[in-house]
Amino acid sequence: MRSVDRIDALRAQVARWRQVGDRIAFVPTMGNLHAGHYSLIALAREQADRVVASIFVNPTQFGPNEDFARYPRTPEADEAGLAEAGCDLVFRPTVEEMYPFGADRCVTVRVPGLTDELDGAARPGHFDGVATVVLRLFNMVQPDSAVFGRKDFQQLRVIDYLVRELSLPIAIVPAPICRDADGLALSSRNQYLSPAERAIASELHHTLLAMQAALRDGTPLVKIETDAMDRLNRCGFQPDYAQIRRIHDLARPAAAERVGLIALVAARLGSTRLIDNLEM
Ligand code: PAJ
Repeated sequence: MRSVDRIDALRAQVARWRQVGDRIAFVPTMGNLHAGHYSLIALAREQADRVVASIFVNPTQFGPNEDFARYPRTPEADEAGLAEAGCDLVFRPTVEEMYPFGADRCVTVRVPGLTDELDGAARPGHFDGVATVVLRLFNMVQPDSAVFGRKDFQQLRVIDYLVRELSLPIAIVPAPICRDADGLALSSRNQYLSPAERAIASELHHTLLAMQAALRDGTPLVKIETDAMDRLNRCGFQPDYAQIRRIHDLARPAAAERVGLIALVAARLGSTRLIDNLEM
């Protein structure tokens, strides 16, 4: 596996692959990789002849009081894991390479609507930062396809919108959520949890399962959502939201809708913010 930190080196390698007709799949990440990320690499391998991953902790998607500075950075372990997972090239730009005039002076992409709700309401500007960096990465790598995890379901929908709205010739491939044995979705942020917090963290997933069961029983959507918020509060979380949305565009469903839905939750446990979702 090659590791490059410059756009020109990335482009030269990708051009050589293109010359011999290779198709390129891309997996953007912020590093501190775990089995969830490596499952995306495996899925990317099935899509294409060559797999490119990126590792970039993107400052423009973190709020001023969020964990940008303390976000875990483990480049050596990440590179070893990527090579083993079958990645051909990892792109690790510096902040200066990504934002040559400074992150505060960059051209920003704003995806309307969806970005102000759910996680976007709790993290103002977050999805603009995600769309801004993903569009740049797409432009640098110019892949045929790109793999995104369903774990960050709203992010996946923001990227779908970006690609369709700008007619980007890139197939977006969603990957299933990887979970620990107790149901907790794997996340780089799980390591912030104390042992006591880790012991109750899987309640997030169990709350989603309870929402699914209540939906099957015909419980009104509003009651499912308030019950889920109560349950998370009782377990020791500070929930941001527990909502049922339409899966294809994350719009609010009508009261009688029962198909094509997804439950999404976000909650703080101590200082750690966790998200999860379950397709119904
Ligand atoms: P990061 O949090 O590193 O996640 C990179 C990719 O891995 C995302 O597509 C995410 O959905 C996926 N992923 C993370 N945990 C997963 C799990 N348990 N199961 C399946 N997939 C999982 O998401 C980002 O980085 C950034 O916002 C990025 C898109 C790279 C833009 O900066």
